[in-house]
Amino acid sequence: MNNTDIIIASEKQIILTNCMPPPSSNEAVADIIKGITATPRYIPSRFFYDGAGSDLFEKITGLPEYYPTRTEKEILKENAATIAGDLEDTDIVELGSGDCSKISVLFDAIPPDRRNGICYVPVDVSRSAILDSAETLSQNYPEISIHGMLADFLKHLNNVPGKNRRLICFFGSTIGNLDPVQTGHFLSNLGSLMRKGDQFLLGLDMVKDIMVMENAYNDSRGVTAAFNRNIIRVISNLISADLDPEHFEHFAFYNTRESRIEMHLRAVREVRIESPFLSSKVLVRRGETIHTENSYKFSQSRISELAGHAGLSIERIFTDNNRWFSLVSFLK
Ligand code: AVJ
Repeated sequence: MNNTDIIIASEKQIILTNCMPPPSSNEAVADIIKGITATPRYIPSRFFYDGAGSDLFEKITGLPEYYPTRTEKEILKENAATIAGDLEDTDIVELGSGDCSKISVLFDAIPPDRRNGICYVPVDVSRSAILDSAETLSQNYPEISIHGMLADFLKHLNNVPGKNRRLICFFGSTIGNLDPVQTGHFLSNLGSLMRKGDQFLLGLDMVKDIMVMENAYNDSRGVTAAFNRNIIRVISNLISADLDPEHFEHFAFYNTRESRIEMHLRAVREVRIESPFLSSKVLVRRGETIHTENSYKFSQSRISELAGHAGLSIERIFTDNNRWFSLVSFLK
């Protein structure tokens, strides 16, 4: 079921392996219908990231209130030499690679004469994200070979090439979007695929002052609100409905018991959802909410639990002065 393309970027050959099933939006439609008819209603967070949603998220990462991206990059910069200094003949796998700004920090710390043995393996569901970063990286780091994987890291981990030693990177606290059960499955799967000597570098947003966390998801410019509302447009198109994002307002708060930021959309008036995929129309009453995202926050003890799920040992935890974010290096 995998097909592999050879693509030319910056006069260089790039391998792209496609693990995704042929495009059929049936699964997407079924998941959306299930969520919007559930009690309480929800929309799976993966629907945030169409073109506009990815642009809005990129904008979020530059907001003064949104500390995670900035802080993680600082930690990476500060410790890149320690992390990447003695890498040689390694496949650097990046899960949910998106844009390539973080991995570049790591590449910069590898002496150019050692880059020859490095293969970069971006894993992402977006073909354009992989191709764009391959283009940039092959220009800036011509010695590094690139093998992109068009894949869902929750489903296709076993297709990641495994001949060489691997450094697997999962930045951005993206793992925090999974619930604890999914997180446990994902990590035990990942840990069992790793071999002795392989390394896993995981970015985690830590529990901190509640105001700091809540402000990061309630920015003063309303970019996060626009990002949240955009999911209405995305799902509306997928189920051929005619929903207006402006009929919903953004709200986000920290749920202390669950250690997570929750994002919801609240209907500001009654909303009727009509779709050829619905047997009868759905009525969302004014004030009713739709849960769109969880973003779990982590602690030292939770990091130990994660290591336990993966069957990995914690080699080192890199952090910032405020201890707002952690970059954890796990070893098999
Ligand atoms: C990309 C999942 C890490 O949870 O902080 C940002 C997404 N949502 N603002 C996060 C997001 C609202 C982000 N992750």
